[in-house]
Amino acid sequence: MTAVGIDAMEIWTGKLKLDLAETFAPAQGDDPGKYTKGLGLRASSFPDVYEDIVTMGANAAHRLMERKGLTPDDIGRIDVATESAFDNSKPVSTYIAGCLEQVYDENFHHANKGERKFACISGTQSLDDAYNWIRAGRNRGRAALVIATDTALYARDDPGEATQGAGAVAMLVDEDPNLVELSTEQGYGSADETDFLKPNQQFPSVDGKRSVNVYLARMREALEDFAEVAGDIHPGDYEMIPFHTPFPGMVRKAAALGYRHIIRGTDVGDLMAEEIGHQPMRSDFETDDEFHAAIKEYTDALTETERYQDWYSNAIEPTLEISREVGNWYTGSVHIARASGLKHARENGLDLDDARLLVASYGSGAQAEVHAETVVPGWEEEIGALDIDEQIRNRYDLSFAEYEQVHDVHNHETETDVEEFTAPENEFAFDGWGRMGERKYRYVE
Ligand code: CAA
Repeated sequence: MTAVGIDAMEIWTGKLKLDLAETFAPAQGDDPGKYTKGLGLRASSFPDVYEDIVTMGANAAHRLMERKGLTPDDIGRIDVATESAFDNSKPVSTYIAGCLEQVYDENFHHANKGERKFACISGTQSLDDAYNWIRAGRNRGRAALVIATDTALYARDDPGEATQGAGAVAMLVDEDPNLVELSTEQGYGSADETDFLKPNQQFPSVDGKRSVNVYLARMREALEDFAEVAGDIHPGDYEMIPFHTPFPGMVRKAAALGYRHIIRGTDVGDLMAEEIGHQPMRSDFETDDEFHAAIKEYTDALTETERYQDWYSNAIEPTLEISREVGNWYTGSVHIARASGLKHARENGLDLDDARLLVASYGSGAQAEVHAETVVPGWEEEIGALDIDEQIRNRYDLSFAEYEQVHDVHNHETETDVEEFTAPENEFAFDGWGRMGERKYRYVE
């Protein structure tokens, strides 16, 4: 069977930065440790006034196409995943194709375009769509462009405000990929939940504490379902585990839950039992509360062990490095986590040829999905081409007053006119409104 997977990727961050410890925490009257240690975030990326989901997605896709020497004729499909769309009918992929057609002689008239919605998991679902399209033999030798793009903004003073972010990830899905091959096995955990939603409104209604528990519950189900098709998972099977990362503190909880699950019935589980006792079983307790207290106590002891901490620092910590600097990118978040892990491996001389990743995606509403990937030779060159560190360094550092203005600029309910903080250069930029209320874009040399 021909390998299908991600051939190459590009990451585009919003050009502005909100420093959480230095700028946000003092304005909120909070201890900076809540952000840097509790949530695990140093800063959030924000879009400048001429940036939005279309410009960020188009800029990431353009850079990807240029680097790979592609033209529109090479692309048979453009799938955009977003939960920040501004139109209930016309998909963002048409806007992005329109942008790209400004800079190429050819067009995308024979490419299938769509938009996927299921909160943050839709980025992974779009990858699946592209994978299935190629596997079904419908691609006519062409590749798919999958773009996950979001402005993850919350209403002012919502607890989620600390976890905001903005950016896009463009991925080229093709046969014989140069980055990762996707597995056919997948596990799902899915249920009708109201943890985070946007019922025809721009900023989400969030039950933050509940959303954390729903994430964990659906992820546990997805892991169990994955093990049903792929067989039992041993902690040593996967070099890294990129999770959906709304904030690194969430992944800290998810990793502990995942580890508890995957060590059951393994030699590692036996060694852990000798050290801290057996995992609590529901049948040993009279009430849910007693059981949950025992689980918490066990998990606290587990995460203190050297064995767990070694595993965490190798398999999880490297996947969080980019996220700490940019915040939540919703649909792009798990894809940044994968890139972050691979980038760490390259920079530290780790040999990941043929290594396995376990990729754990999540979308509120709610669904988790777990699948495996194999890193393929060629990954180092692809990851080495990313300039995300430079982009992160070059962001304009907002004062709190400027942050308030920028938030208003991107709030669809307010009319605020603010000068741009950075100058667009060799990129797509928002260029005002058209006669039917559509957004217009131009390429700025
Ligand atoms: N030093 C160290 N740690 C500190 C601290 C300090 N000074 N002050 C607080 N903390 C810790 C807290 O103990 C807490 O850690 P634990 O959860 O491990 O106990 C952490 O910092 C956060 O503090 P709070 O719980 O007090 O923070 P909060 O209530 O203001 O907000 C939140 C937390 C509810 C997650 C909020 O950020 C939120 O609503 N976020 C948006 C929703 C979200 O991201 N949910 C995640 C799952 S849903 C999902 O993944 C989909 C998606 O992308 C949105």
